[in-house]
Amino acid sequence: MDKFVVRGGNPLLGTIKVSGAKNSALPCMAAAILTEDEVILENIPQVRDIETERKLLVSMGAEVELGYGRAQHRTSIKCALLSDPVAKYEIVKTMRASSLVLGPLIARTGVARVAMPGGCAIGDRPIDLHIKGLEAMGATVSYDHGYLEARSPNSGNNRLHGAHIVFDKITVTGTEDLLMAATLAEGETLFENCAREPEVTDLAALLIAMGAQIEGAGTGTIRVHGVPQLHGARHKINPDRIEAGTFLLAGAITGGDLNVDCCDPSHLGALIAKLEQCGVKIDVGTDHIRVRSGGDLKASDISTEEYPGFPTDMQAQFMALATQTEGTTTVTENIFENRFMHVGELNRMGANITVNGRTATIRGKTPLQSAAVMCSDLRASASLVLAALVADGETILDRVYHLDRGYERFEEKLRGVGAQIRRMGDVFGKK
Ligand code: EPZ
Repeated sequence: MDKFVVRGGNPLLGTIKVSGAKNSALPCMAAAILTEDEVILENIPQVRDIETERKLLVSMGAEVELGYGRAQHRTSIKCALLSDPVAKYEIVKTMRASSLVLGPLIARTGVARVAMPGGCAIGDRPIDLHIKGLEAMGATVSYDHGYLEARSPNSGNNRLHGAHIVFDKITVTGTEDLLMAATLAEGETLFENCAREPEVTDLAALLIAMGAQIEGAGTGTIRVHGVPQLHGARHKINPDRIEAGTFLLAGAITGGDLNVDCCDPSHLGALIAKLEQCGVKIDVGTDHIRVRSGGDLKASDISTEEYPGFPTDMQAQFMALATQTEGTTTVTENIFENRFMHVGELNRMGANITVNGRTATIRGKTPLQSAAVMCSDLRASASLVLAALVADGETILDRVYHLDRGYERFEEKLRGVGAQIRRMGDVFGKK
């Protein structure tokens, strides 16, 4: 299993480039199911979850080209014939975002069989709100040996019908899944209490380019007027705001002077405000952000919220910075029930963090020591790398395959701005 070896102490200096957003690319790839025409997506990140999605689409009968040539990180997807509209367990168990094919499959073919995703390290991750929405649109849902089967009404033309859906909880992929289903439903669908994440807006932009009629994406209320069919399109995926935020924190924690390039600063408002409260110097450009810190940082509390609040996907990484700020920081995780897996490992490196339910208390500033640590999930892995960048000596991080799911060439990009980080063991992607 791959490991990282990180020697701390170097401030990060120079320019680091952000890749396309994994959490935009995944729903946009699923959206290709909605048409028999070719869909071309550019700025696709070279990460493991994208490869998993490619396998999933191919297993259903799609033709998928995925190229990371010098010029473009792009994919071409053609779902002319979906010979086997089933999301099989052996793929779904490795990536719960596979449930994003549920809505498109039933909208396009009238039936969808998707292995129930099950939980993951950060929580049990139910999809009850996806199912409730599909049933409101006329689908019948049954369960069969760990698989969920959804069928559109066999009356009439076998299409879903519009509905008024108010989400009990704000769900990102729930909003995306049902938005895709609604584009081909009969009539009008009104969604309320929707997720407002930029990834939802990015997906809606693709769907509109494919001929969908959607108003309000990016707000809490989205209205969709169903159309008989969608056509192909070409779309460029948004920059990854979580990767960009991770790099901002890397510049801050190492006391560096880092230019985070090819990002969208408008997606990072909550993090930028928080970093400034900590005493980090931030200069915002049109598609880049410069982060500088002299090292003397002040504690500032965070509480994770749905967008545009402080993102849960930045919580673990911010906690690493909090260990280097003077004072006491409280971190409240309101979105997932078990997203403090990084705390134990940070404490093993010398941090002083206690957890009580959904709140962690970090007492800083504590010098961090190198240690052998274990990655547990995608963002916890990034948090441990940030801590290792300021720890004395060499930290060995095990199970970095978690990190490879959502960060493209992470160690190469960090090395390019002065980090002492290298990968040991198998190369990413080798069997
Ligand atoms: C998306 O997950 C992201 N993944 C997650 O990023 C992110 O942490 C999360 O949104 C929150 O921003 C992708 O976009 C692929 P939710 P998602 O549905 O959609 C509960 C990363 O690190 N809920 O918004 O699965 C759920 O349990 C990943 O890149 C229900 O109860 O998250 C959670 O408590 C991790 N029933 C809350 O809602 C449902 O049917 C928010 O979950 C759906 C969700």
